[in-house]
Amino acid sequence: MKEFNPKIIGFMCNWCSYAGADLAGISRIKYAPNLRIIRVLCSGRVDPIIVVTAFEKGADGVLVTGCHPGDCHYISGNYQAEKKVENTRKILKAAGVDEKRLGLEWISAAEGQRFADIVNEFTELIRSLGPSKVDLQKIRAAREEASDFRVRWLVGREKDLLEEGNTFGEQVQRERFENFMDNVIETQFIRSSILTALEEGPMSVKELAEKLGTPSDVVVRNLVQLARGQRVQRIEGHPLRYEVIPW
Ligand code: FES
Repeated sequence: MKEFNPKIIGFMCNWCSYAGADLAGISRIKYAPNLRIIRVLCSGRVDPIIVVTAFEKGADGVLVTGCHPGDCHYISGNYQAEKKVENTRKILKAAGVDEKRLGLEWISAAEGQRFADIVNEFTELIRSLGPSKVDLQKIRAAREEASDFRVRWLVGREKDLLEEGNTFGEQVQRERFENFMDNVIETQFIRSSILTALEEGPMSVKELAEKLGTPSDVVVRNLVQLARGQRVQRIEGHPLRYEVIPW
């Protein structure tokens, strides 16, 4: 049988890890050819929507790399990257994508060998997981979710939000923030799934609940919020059905 050759997208920051990849090339260090590198100015610029889109387009794995902590040229970009990756893993998990398929590593400009080792290890990990078989409807819902302005605003802002006017109880606040974030991600995924399902045509609560495998009361609660936000509307009749309001 043909060996599985994973497609891996690598988002590498310009100042450290891309230079590390360059050094590996100049030094003729061999590494797995599965990585397609996309250079970004800073790892902190890799938004969840970019990662989710990569999986939607057929990537088997995504590797984000940046400068070591304390070395980011934009001071806190790699801290933002860490938080964005954490939250993106939650979005991917909700969409049925194994979180291990999204990697995050720090590589400096002087670490050509480390770059090669990381690429080899990550490629083997993805190879062991097998091809990524995404459920297109779920991954589209995840992309919708990742593009939601509330999610985009919140993801990666934990540090800023916890620092503003907060001088004590940081641990408690961090836990509360994480719980809050989990809640936003979960709720938004359900709403995005409803909108994606309704693109196929109007549906009743029962039909939506069956299609999404979600309890009816949860569907109703979220339909009410979507109707308030003018994203869906009711179609009178029996049974009562809902449809998407075109933008
Ligand atoms: Fe490299 Fe920010 S510049 S992580």
